[in-house]
Amino acid sequence: MTEDEFRPGEDFARAMDEQDPLREFRHQFLFPKSKDGGDCLYLCGHSLGLQPKTAAPYIEEELKEWARLGVEGHFHAKHPWMPYHRLLREQTAELVGAKPAEVVVMNSLTVNLHLMMVSFYRPTSARNKIVIESGAFPSDRYAVKSQIRFHGFDPETALIELQPRSGEACLREPDIEGFIESRAQEIALLMLAGVNYSTGQVFDMERIARAGRQRGCVVGLTWRTRPETCR
Ligand SMILES: Cc1ncc(COP(=O)(O)O)c(C=O)c1O
Repeated sequence: MTEDEFRPGEDFARAMDEQDPLREFRHQFLFPKSKDGGDCLYLCGHSLGLQPKTAAPYIEEELKEWARLGVEGHFHAKHPWMPYHRLLREQTAELVGAKPAEVVVMNSLTVNLHLMMVSFYRPTSARNKIVIESGAFPSDRYAVKSQIRFHGFDPETALIELQPRSGEACLREPDIEGFIESRAQEIALLMLAGVNYSTGQVFDMERIARAGRQRGCVVGLTWRTRPETCR
């Protein structure tokens, strides 16, 4: 949709809902009530989304398998626990547009960030900066700062947080490219969210990855769901 086609207001929002090919998925989730007991507008796609109606029965099923099999559930449960990442491989690859051999589901996000940075953040005395967006998720920022210290550098100087232009909430891609171009020799790692958790800005990941890699920076992109409006 172009900016000209957009109309603020409920009628327009309802008309868009009518055309939404994903609208039926709404019925697969449990919605909390608003404070006055009415229907709730749920805008949180980050941190914790809505509970799928299937979540409780699936968890119950695994608890039953645990009761029935104990430790043997690792190997003999209906969905064996030990190779759980294999069970999730195909769907995850489809979700992120990668090949099955390129994805693995494991750990929590922050643990994975640490594991990735232990391997891919290779600072030198000249090239030690990590670039993130200002307003990155707090735990991402803490993990980056820890990794900088862990590698013997000081976050005060080695962490760069890209700021939007004054009066703007989102970063402009040409500004990110310009920054990479001018400071590439200092940047060891460029790590942005695919979608910023608070503004909802979707970054052009391909463009940013290309800009960074052309200048020799390692590029890391964290992917999260985009805040959605559910009604
Ligand atoms: C946007 C975002 N980043 C990072 C995290 C941290 O994830 P984890 O607790 O899996 O380390 C969360 C968790 O809610 C999140 O919503």
